[in-house]
Amino acid sequence: MRYGYFDKKNKEYVITRPDTPTPWINYIGSGAYGGIVSNTGGGYSFHKDPQNRRVTRYRYNNIPADRPGRYIYIRNRENGEYWNPGYQPVQKKLDDYNCRHGMGYTVLSGEYQGVTGEVTYFVPDDKDFEIWHLKVNNTRTVSQKLQVFAYSEFCFWQAVMDQQNVDWVQQINQGRYEDGIITYYPHYISDNAAFFATAEKVSSYDTNLEAFIGKYRSESNPLAVEQGACSNSVSYRMNGVGAFCIELDLKAKEEKEIVFILGFAEDRKNIREDIKDYLSPENARAALDRLKAYWDSYTGKLSVETPDEDMNLFVNIWNQYQCKTTFNWSRFVSLYQLGLGRGMGIRDSAQDTLGVMHTIPDEARQLIIKLLQCQYTDGRAYHLFFPLTGEGGVGDAPVKLFDWYSDDHLWLILAVNAYVKESGDFGFLEQSVLYNDKSSSASVMEHLDMALAFTHNNRGPNKIALAGRADWNDTLNLDIGKGIAESVFTSMLYCRAASEMIELYEYLGKHELCKKYKAMFEEMKIAINESSWDGQWYKRAFDDFGQPIGSEQNQYGKIFINSQSWAVLGKVADVEKAEKCMESVYKYLNSKFGIVTMYPAYTEYDETKGGVTTYPPGTKENGGIFLHTNPWVMISEIMLGHGDRAFEYYSQILPGKRNEDAELYEVEPYVYCQNILGKEHPQFGVGRNSWLSGTAAWNMVSSSQHILGIRASYDSLEVDPCIPSQWQGFKARRVFRGVTYNIEVHNPNKVGCGVSSITVDGKEVEKIPVYEAGTEHNVVVVML
Ligand code: GLC
Repeated sequence: MRYGYFDKKNKEYVITRPDTPTPWINYIGSGAYGGIVSNTGGGYSFHKDPQNRRVTRYRYNNIPADRPGRYIYIRNRENGEYWNPGYQPVQKKLDDYNCRHGMGYTVLSGEYQGVTGEVTYFVPDDKDFEIWHLKVNNTRTVSQKLQVFAYSEFCFWQAVMDQQNVDWVQQINQGRYEDGIITYYPHYISDNAAFFATAEKVSSYDTNLEAFIGKYRSESNPLAVEQGACSNSVSYRMNGVGAFCIELDLKAKEEKEIVFILGFAEDRKNIREDIKDYLSPENARAALDRLKAYWDSYTGKLSVETPDEDMNLFVNIWNQYQCKTTFNWSRFVSLYQLGLGRGMGIRDSAQDTLGVMHTIPDEARQLIIKLLQCQYTDGRAYHLFFPLTGEGGVGDAPVKLFDWYSDDHLWLILAVNAYVKESGDFGFLEQSVLYNDKSSSASVMEHLDMALAFTHNNRGPNKIALAGRADWNDTLNLDIGKGIAESVFTSMLYCRAASEMIELYEYLGKHELCKKYKAMFEEMKIAINESSWDGQWYKRAFDDFGQPIGSEQNQYGKIFINSQSWAVLGKVADVEKAEKCMESVYKYLNSKFGIVTMYPAYTEYDETKGGVTTYPPGTKENGGIFLHTNPWVMISEIMLGHGDRAFEYYSQILPGKRNEDAELYEVEPYVYCQNILGKEHPQFGVGRNSWLSGTAAWNMVSSSQHILGIRASYDSLEVDPCIPSQWQGFKARRVFRGVTYNIEVHNPNKVGCGVSSITVDGKEVEKIPVYEAGTEHNVVVVML
C-alpha cells in the first residue's frame, strides 16, 4: 500500500493521506536557521544548533504523536467548527488533504466544508526566520465568515534545560506583543529573541500557552480556538506561544493570503526591519521562487538519463537533496536523533562532504576546515562538535575508557582528497588550520599526515590499528581496559587513506612523501593479510583477549560486511581474496531489503563486545541492514568489474522502490533511512531513522561516480562506468569546475564495464580535459 507518489515535474513528493506509518518529514532552511516539518505540520525550528538555540518545542515520545508543530486552525464563525489544513492537531476528517514535500519547502493543503486552506513553509534567502504563507479560499457560491488562528510553541534556547529545569525556565521566560509581533525571550537576555509576526490585522493574540490552550486541554481543542478569540495574554511566566487570531470574511469564491513569520533575532529591536520585505504575499511568493531556483542550480550540476527511472529520480533529485541535509545537520537533529545529545559527528560530517562535493565544493571546504579544527595535535580528532559553541567532545556513550575513536581522523583524508579533485584547489593543502587546542596550527597536509601518524602510532599486537572506543561501528566496543583490541576495518580505512595520499603526492611529484606513505601502506597491508584473512573472508577485529571477531571459528558474528568491502576499497585484498570475500558477502549477508552488517547476529548481551550486543538480533549494527555500509559493497563490486551485482545491490535499497510497500517500510520513500530491520528480526523490512545517514552521501558517490563512473580527478573529468550489462548506455550532464559536459555513454557489446574510446567534441582523447569555465562540450564514451 502507498501513501503518496513522486511528482517528478515539480520535484515534490506528494503525500495523499495524513496517517503515514511514521511522520514523514522534510527539512526547511539551509543549515543555519531551519527546522523539521512533518506531513501533518508537526515539527520544530532551531537556529544554528538544535541543542543550544532551539526556537520551538517538540515533545518526543509524545501521545498523540508528532506534536506540537506549526499549526493553522481555520474556524467557521457561524457554526464554531474548526480544523487544520494539515489534519493535525484537531484531526478533523478532511474532504481533501495533501502534503507536498519539495526542495526546502513543504505545502500542506486541506479542504473542509467549502473552504480550502493551503500553507507553505520555507526559509527565505537563508534568513534567520521562516515564512508560513497561507491561502484560504471560499469554494462556495455564498460568503463565509471565518477565522484563522496561527500557532507555535516556543522553547527555551537550551533544549535540554527546557526539559530538565522547569523550575527555572518557567519562571524566567517572557512573552510580549507589540503591533503584529510576538517576542519570546528569557528575562536575563537583553538582546536576542524568538518571534512570531504578521502584517495582517490581528484581532487577538496570545503569548502564554496556558491562556491559549486552557486547562486540561491540548492543541486538539485549544480554548482560544473553541471560543473564537485569544485572550491577549502577556506571558510573565510558564510557557510561551506565538498565537494570532485573524478574522476572515470571504465572499463567494474569494481567496485571501496571509503571511506569518517565525524566527530568531540577534537583536529584538531589529525584528520589524529584518522582516519587512517578506510580509507581503507577493514578496513571499518571489522568495519561494528564488528558493526553487537555488535548488535547481544545486541539483543542476549533475543530471542523468539512464534506463532506470528510479535511479534517475534519486541521482537527479532526492539523493542530492538528502545529501545537503546530512551535510547541514550530520546526525544531529531528526525525529530520531533529537538534537539534544550529539552534535555534528567528525566522521559523519567528513563523509557527508562527499555527497555534496560535486555541487558546493566551497561549502564543503568550509566544513572540512571546521573538522580539521577538531583534530588534536597528535592526529586523532574529537568525535563530535557543537556548531554554535564550537565545543567538541567524544560522545555520550557510557563507556569512558577512551577519548578517541580509531577512525574519526582518517575520514578527513578522504574528504580533503575529494575536495581537491573536485576543485583543483591545490593551494588548500598549504592552508594553515588550527588544531583543537586553538593555539597550534599546521597546514592541511600536515593535519592529514598527523591523522595517518596517529593510527600508525597506535597499533596493537598484530601490528594493525588499535580499536579505541570504537571504529565506524560505534557499537563494537572491544577494548575493555586491556588496551589490545584491534580493528581490522580501521586498518583497511588507513590503507585507503594512505593510498589516496600516495595518489595525490604522485600527482604533485612529492616523491619523498610518496615513498613514506607507500611504506606505511605496505606494512599495514601485510599485517592485515597475515593476521586477518579467515579463509573465505576477512576477520572484523580482535577483542581485548586477542580473539578474533568475524571469523568462521565464532559462533555468532562469523562474518561482518565492512572488513570485506574495505578490503577492496583499501586495496588490501589481492584479486583472488577480493572475489572470495565479496562472494561471501552475497552468500551470507545479502537479503531482499539490503545487505546486513553481520551474521549470525549476537543473541545475548556480552560486555566484551559492548553496544552491538545490546540490540536484539537483526537490529541496527547487530545483523540489521545498516544502509550506510551497502554502497561500500557496491563500489567494491564495481572495482572488481561486477556491474550487474552492484546494480542489484543499488536497486534493492532504493527508497523509491519501497513506495508501494510503505506500510511495511514505514519510513519516507523519498530519502534513505539509516537502518532496516534485518533477516533475523521478526519485523524484517521495517525502516528506521530516516534522513540523517551516511547512506545518502555514499549512495550519491556509488551511483554517480562508480556505477555511472562520472568522477572528478586532479586534472580531468573521468567517465568510467560499470553499468548493468543489458543497458544500451545512458546520458548525463555534469558541470565540473564551471565547464558543462554533455555525456553520452554507449554500451554496444553489452559488457557494461571498461571503456574503449572517448571523444570530446568529435576528437578522440585519452582523458577528458578541463576546459575554460563557462564552455560546454560533448563527450561520447564507447564501452568495450
Ligand atoms: C551512526 C553514527 C555513525 C556510525 C554508525 C554506525 O550512524 O552516527 O557515526 O558510524 O552509526 O555505528
